[in-house]
Amino acid sequence: MGALPANTATAFLGEPLVDSPEAARLALYPTVTGRVVHGEMRGRELGFPTANLDPKAEGVTPADGVYAAWVVIDGRVFGGAVSVGNNPTFEGVPERQIEAHILDASLDLYDREISVHFVRRVRGNVRFEGLDALVAQIAADVANIRGILAERHLQAL
Ligand SMILES: Cc1cc2nc3c(=O)[nH]c(=O)nc-3n(C[C@H](O)[C@H](O)[C@H](O)COP(=O)(O)O)c2cc1C
Repeated sequence: MGALPANTATAFLGEPLVDSPEAARLALYPTVTGRVVHGEMRGRELGFPTANLDPKAEGVTPADGVYAAWVVIDGRVFGGAVSVGNNPTFEGVPERQIEAHILDASLDLYDREISVHFVRRVRGNVRFEGLDALVAQIAADVANIRGILAERHLQAL
């Protein structure tokens, strides 16, 4: 997955499209942009840390569910396994969360702005009876999502 120019993420969110096939392809997907805030920090314990978007993030958020996504951070593109919903396995998650598990990278994203480009929905967001079942399902999602994104590899500029 290659680096895109720093202006690519904003280029199609209000300014004219940059003239690159990568930006044009990313622009086809519903996109939400926002700051990364602190979640419950459960993701780390589950083995799948997630960057939680500020609930005030702007853009187009699709229906609750799990998605393959491209995540643009400082002009670089990463693959992501993204969950949208109120994490029904857990009690008391008040707001609809948009959480991105970034593939193949370990980044400190707190307070940084990221853009999530939703590529394909893989399933609904459901309640699991225990943590083991949730973790097993997320591992299967990640494998599935890797395959989906590999078919749509974004070339470095
Ligand atoms: C790929 C993926 C799929 C997920 N699917 C579900 C789900 O079906 N049900 C659910 O309750 N939570 C789901 N989650 C959300 C986890 O419950 C959540 O990431 C975890 O509780 C950590 O939350 P935190 O960031 O607020 O600590 C999913 C997370 C990821 C990354």
